[in-house]
Amino acid sequence: MKPIIELIKDLADKHGRERHNLLPILQGVVEQEKYLSEYSMIEIARELDMPATEVFGTATFYSFLEHKKMGTYIIRICKTITCAMKGEKQILLTIEDMLKIRVGETSSDGKFSLLQTNCLGFCHKAPAMLINNEVYTDLTPEKIREILTMYMNKKEGGENVN
Ligand code: FES
Repeated sequence: MKPIIELIKDLADKHGRERHNLLPILQGVVEQEKYLSEYSMIEIARELDMPATEVFGTATFYSFLEHKKMGTYIIRICKTITCAMKGEKQILLTIEDMLKIRVGETSSDGKFSLLQTNCLGFCHKAPAMLINNEVYTDLTPEKIREILTMYMNKKEGGENVN
């Protein structure tokens, strides 16, 4: 894990320092840090020589760019119509029950954050969710229990769960 200033500099070297390079830089920071702190946004503004308000504006516009600290595993449940019609509510209740958190919260051990998102493009396999970058489809409460148990048993820094 790189120090944040070094990470931002490397990302700016890689993507460029123009306005249109801002999004991949923000994504790169979120990839490492799991969220965008105020400090990171100010440093990005400094590195790209643009107003911090512009960085804040972009970061808050995109729902995938979190700006508060998130758990190791960010669960995003699709709340759009097809998933909603195919049992998204039940999936959500199962997750809330298992992890003892509500949408927008992070578990007390810092392992899971639960969010809702718009269509993930897997409507034909609804209901769908993401855990970090991994897509899970055709969800049922049973399947959710299996998937979450797998993540709960995963050791930090261990093998990827796929
Ligand atoms: Fe949920 Fe499209 S509506 S993936």
